[in-house]
Amino acid sequence: MSQELFEAARGAMAFAHAPYSKFPVGAAIRAEDGKIYAGANIENLSFPQGWCAEPTAISAMIMGGAKKIVEMAVIAEKLAECPPCGGCRQKIAEFASADTRIYLCNEVGVSKTMTMEELLPFSFKTEILG
Ligand code: THU
Repeated sequence: MSQELFEAARGAMAFAHAPYSKFPVGAAIRAEDGKIYAGANIENLSFPQGWCAEPTAISAMIMGGAKKIVEMAVIAEKLAECPPCGGCRQKIAEFASADTRIYLCNEVGVSKTMTMEELLPFSFKTEILG
């Protein structure tokens, strides 16, 4: 993983709006256009209305005109390896391939590298809809 991708995820985490969980998360995507798109979790007083860092980064990528996650980094301030939640795994899978690498980071760098297939095995794939 590049230092640039790691720093984008860590930098995004600083923008987290997480006053309720106090669990800031950052995510950064390198897309097929070579650019990096980042995001943080954004919580809400009405708790179910908040969302994770990963979809914020995915939104930035889509609005930047890109469609493919080449690699992605996720970092949480309070956890050495923050596993993306179930819903996020499905959201990432929409724009990733089985061998896309997802880096779970701590404050200094990568702690664990996983492929999309490892993160979301036996998944609901586009082929299913025919
Ligand atoms: N969170 C993320 O941003 N990504 C994940 O994959 C796991 C959870 C956020 C959601 C919420 O704002 C906080 O972490 C605590 O659950």
